[in-house]
Amino acid sequence: MKYKEELNNKIKLINDYLDKIFDSFPDSQAQIIYEAMKYSVFAGGKRLRPVLMLSAFEAVGGKGEIIFPFACAIEMIHTYSLIHDDLPAMDDDDYRRGKKTNHKVYGEGLAILAGDALLNKAYELMIKASIDYPGKEALLAMDAIASCAGTEGMIGGQVVDLISEGRPVDLDIINFIHKNKTAAMIESSLKAGAILGQASKEEIEALANLGYCIGMAFQIQDDILDITGDEKELGKAINSDLKNNKATFVSIKGLEESKKYVERLTRQGMDYLEILKERGNFLIWLSDYLMTRGF
Ligand code: IPE
Ligand code: IPE
Ligand code: MG
Ligand code: MG
Ligand code: MG
Repeated sequence: MKYKEELNNKIKLINDYLDKIFDSFPDSQAQIIYEAMKYSVFAGGKRLRPVLMLSAFEAVGGKGEIIFPFACAIEMIHTYSLIHDDLPAMDDDDYRRGKKTNHKVYGEGLAILAGDALLNKAYELMIKASIDYPGKEALLAMDAIASCAGTEGMIGGQVVDLISEGRPVDLDIINFIHKNKTAAMIESSLKAGAILGQASKEEIEALANLGYCIGMAFQIQDDILDITGDEKELGKAINSDLKNNKATFVSIKGLEESKKYVERLTRQGMDYLEILKERGNFLIWLSDYLMTRGF
């Protein structure tokens, strides 16, 4: 139970910082955009990526407040990717994080702009934090995040996911999609946390490797839950992949083999944490918790 409490504490720290960011937005004639951004950010969400970033930072002995603008930035980039992923032109989904999707509430135009605005604010936050930071680490962390969120990362994965709908897809393509649309952001969360925590080169590499493994496992688990999950617990509709004619790891390999692969990838990831000794314990628990999640 001690780790579950630690997880909730980390989530609270992140939510408090997100609150502060949203409280600082000015009154404006464009007020509706802040509302639309806030709606999706605070609709719920596991806060997985900022929790991973904070955990990596702490595991390598990181100190200070620098982690928070970066942790909130990754959650804002992730939330923008979800708003756009749900649009009619993409997965066309009506529920997210237990609530109506952004475009269902604010309309497609504002949902597109809310996504753009979250992406922009994320970089604004990281740049402002980097200006005041004495070392190079803030810029290096931003570089890790920027390169995993763009065309060589999340966006690239979303592109191949989209253009592969309704087409025969092999495991190579599935792996490309998972590596880029999902694992990249998870890997960069851990990597950026380690960089900001002044980790050694070996520690940064180990945490990035953990991120790759649990990131790949995370998307396969998401695809499993798209078939077997409970909509209430997930906060989103199941069978979205089937509806969109998406080939997934599960549609190629079947449920049983997919479950085994999630476990294998997770264990492989945990092995990289040996370098951290007992400082890696929370991340080992979290990886295990994610592997067996039903949400
Ligand atoms: C959903 O991510 C998108 C995928 C990469 C599968 P999460 O499952 O982390 O979504 P939230 O943040 O908890 O809503
Ligand atoms: C989306 O993958 C990953 C993103 C980069 C947003 P999915 O389309 O499978 O995510 P869900 O199932 O809608 O959360
Ligand atoms: Mg999608
Ligand atoms: Mg989707
Ligand atoms: Mg999915």
